[in-house]
Amino acid sequence: MCGIVGYIGDKNVYPILISGLQRLEYRGYDSAGIAIFNGDLNVYKCKGRVSDLENHVADKDTGGHVGIGHTRWATHGEPNDRNAHPHTSMNGNFVLVHNGIIENYAELKTTLQKKGFTFQSDTDTEVLVNLIEYFYQSGEEMDAETAVRLALSKVVGAYGIVVFCKNEKNRLIAARKGSPLVIGLGRGEYFIASDASPIVEYTDSVIYLNDLDVAIINKDSLTLKTVENAPVPFKVTKVDMSIGDLEKGDFDHFMLKEIFEQPKTIEDTFRGRIKPDHSDIVLGGLLDIFPKIMQARRIILIGCGTSWHAALVGEYMIEEYARVPVEVEYASEFRYRNPILDKNDVVIAISQSGETADTLAALRMAKEKGATILGICNVVGSSIARETDAGVYTHAGVEIGVASTKAFTAQVTVLTLFALKLAKEKGQIAPELYGSLIHELAEVPDKLKSILVMHPHIKEVAAKYKDAINALYLGRGYLFPVALEGALKLKEISYMHAEGYAAGEMKHGPIALVDDNLPVVVVAAKDSYYEKIVSNIQEVKARRGNIIAVVTEGDDTLKAMVNDVFEIPKSHPFVTPLLAVVPLQLFSYYIAVMRGCDVDQPRNLAKSVTVE
Ligand code: G6P
Repeated sequence: MCGIVGYIGDKNVYPILISGLQRLEYRGYDSAGIAIFNGDLNVYKCKGRVSDLENHVADKDTGGHVGIGHTRWATHGEPNDRNAHPHTSMNGNFVLVHNGIIENYAELKTTLQKKGFTFQSDTDTEVLVNLIEYFYQSGEEMDAETAVRLALSKVVGAYGIVVFCKNEKNRLIAARKGSPLVIGLGRGEYFIASDASPIVEYTDSVIYLNDLDVAIINKDSLTLKTVENAPVPFKVTKVDMSIGDLEKGDFDHFMLKEIFEQPKTIEDTFRGRIKPDHSDIVLGGLLDIFPKIMQARRIILIGCGTSWHAALVGEYMIEEYARVPVEVEYASEFRYRNPILDKNDVVIAISQSGETADTLAALRMAKEKGATILGICNVVGSSIARETDAGVYTHAGVEIGVASTKAFTAQVTVLTLFALKLAKEKGQIAPELYGSLIHELAEVPDKLKSILVMHPHIKEVAAKYKDAINALYLGRGYLFPVALEGALKLKEISYMHAEGYAAGEMKHGPIALVDDNLPVVVVAAKDSYYEKIVSNIQEVKARRGNIIAVVTEGDDTLKAMVNDVFEIPKSHPFVTPLLAVVPLQLFSYYIAVMRGCDVDQPRNLAKSVTVE
């Protein structure tokens, strides 16, 4: 959360900052701001989107070759102009952008106030920039870098920062702890950003900062050291991201583009991992660690939001086929509840961004307790990917829509591969079934295409229900997590209250909500629970609920029973979640558009949640 950019070089900095902030807007869009140095230090910031910032600076001087920028997801202090970044120190020597939370800011603020510092905003960030100023003024010989390191040594919490000091005009200082930062290496220029997306237009050579790294960046040189002043060697990595990945193309929204990309992203995720004759699965990233996974007494899947839903699908698959006990935990609960863990446990973190603070912290805790830690991440080089013992990347490509879609199906694809491989290595699955399930997975992309072409029908159905106040989503078995994910998508982007429920639990509460105003979305594809879910549908029908059902193609019984259907091709229940979720993504999308919501940037939400 919060996106930061910086540039130092010969180019005109303003367009670099603005387009960089636009690329990072998925991380927060409460306010935006830039600071550009061109002899004078010009700081422009305002509440709202990057486009509001552009309007705000339209008639201002934006010339200069060194600058920093920020797009905010508010933590301390409401979203307004005053609390927008960059923040300037009281004496005007330092200007800073920050992603993260300074937890001991109140204590530091009081100390600084006693020393005569005054504050303009309610933010923790302004405390940090003044703490740097304080150290800067504390000795004749003090330079900006030392002041930054001393200030950071007093800070409790998380930060990704870029700092500019007015008296050291050709230098930016960046540092991270907990919040990601990437430095792009150009010729005689450097780029800094929260992720590589603002950088790839200019260079594919990047350095990912590690926690407690401080980078001292001049136009022609880069030095890395720790907060404690120890030198740090750096590793240059090539980023594989194209500009096309970062643009909407012909689609109205990134979310819609990402929904339609799923046949390809699922295929990209399994391609190279399943043998062409469907006889076996190879998970290269897990080869060395597989003997440990085989010995695991238990597998614990952790994640947040949509990734947690993917974990639930994984639990059902791994337990059913590999017969290994699996637990699924919200990372935010797991990290604080002192779970029993030891070296016999394998903990797998599932995260699109690979940066979610709770997931990362839960993983670190599991590692400390001796568990083997693995990652299923989408963003290459992300913190979780780098801190785990091993892992499998999803190949969903850049996901920009704040509501996750293609990352979910890619995560489920990886979990499908993992469950099958483990089942095979454990001798729990007959070779014929193993081969036929791999084949089923390989057929998913084509089946998905046939669902996507039905988008006009899904849009028509969405129009019927767009004004509802509440919605209930029901599913059983593998389709229970799909119901949860369908409800989450709807509430995230359309602000319609929606609850996902295990269909068998309906009679223990949600049935009280059912009346002729309530749309009830039932994920009712043909599987071993089919008869049971048909009974649940009857129960809703008896109470005059409006039923929208995701059904298997040709299911005339349900078609006659419910108000509206989204048909999906016949498939093995094991892969059905990958198909059943897609009409629900489209349904939410169209409802949100019809309700006039900002689909890609829903209110209060953001991606890459680097605060706990
Ligand atoms: C945020 C996003 C969700 C995402 C969740 C977990 O809440 O809006 O779409 O599922 O974070 O993110 P992760 O990157 O760890 O998958």
